[in-house]
Amino acid sequence: MNIRFFFLIHCLLLTFSSSCQKIGDNENILIVYLSRTNNTETLAKIIHSQVGGDIIALELQNPYPENYEAIVKQVSLELEKGFLPPLKTRIDRFEKYDLVFIGFPTWAMQLPPPVQSFLHQYDFTQKTIIPFNTNAGYGLGSSIDKIYELCPNSEIKKEFSMKGGKERDGIFLTIKGEKAKETEEKVKSWLFELGLNK
Ligand SMILES: Cc1cc2nc3c(=O)[nH]c(=O)nc-3n(C[C@H](O)[C@H](O)[C@H](O)COP(=O)(O)O)c2cc1C
Repeated sequence: MNIRFFFLIHCLLLTFSSSCQKIGDNENILIVYLSRTNNTETLAKIIHSQVGGDIIALELQNPYPENYEAIVKQVSLELEKGFLPPLKTRIDRFEKYDLVFIGFPTWAMQLPPPVQSFLHQYDFTQKTIIPFNTNAGYGLGSSIDKIYELCPNSEIKKEFSMKGGKERDGIFLTIKGEKAKETEEKVKSWLFELGLNK
């Protein structure tokens, strides 16, 4: 047996091991999300069930008020002033991730301040960002433009966005039961289009 034979076996083993990568072994994937009434969190968990990797919720050092009117007031002030609320969440060895899913609700038709803190705090150079979102039915507003602005050296893929809750009207988690099943199918097609299906 010569060196070429060993090289061939080595290549075959490499190909085999990468094509057999199991969900959960995707150490280069990170799913980060902000969620108050769990709609975006549900989406994050569906994505995680499909692509694996690490999943983590963004938490603040000083949590927002429970009261809806109070949070709306605080968030609009923060957005107006460009205030970046300090995060309690820490991500170890961020450099190991190539692909970062970022989930957030639309707040005041903008990217929520904690997500802006996150994008400021970590270096996304040469990483791929995949946004996902829930909203009360008014869409993404300026949030995607803001991600482009804050991450000029990243590849930003086509987002997934859907209607979630409407806290203003007392509607909280809606992505459950039949809607959760439908959402899972939609998420699968979106991931398929991105080439990230199982
Ligand atoms: C402070 C605040 C501001 C919001 N502003 C908007 C908005 O501008 N447009 C919109 O469609 N929904 C808005 N919403 C509704 C949320 O985007 C929607 O309920 C979302 O599904 C919540 O996601 P979550 O359950 O993951 O927290 C707002 C909610 C909050 C708490």
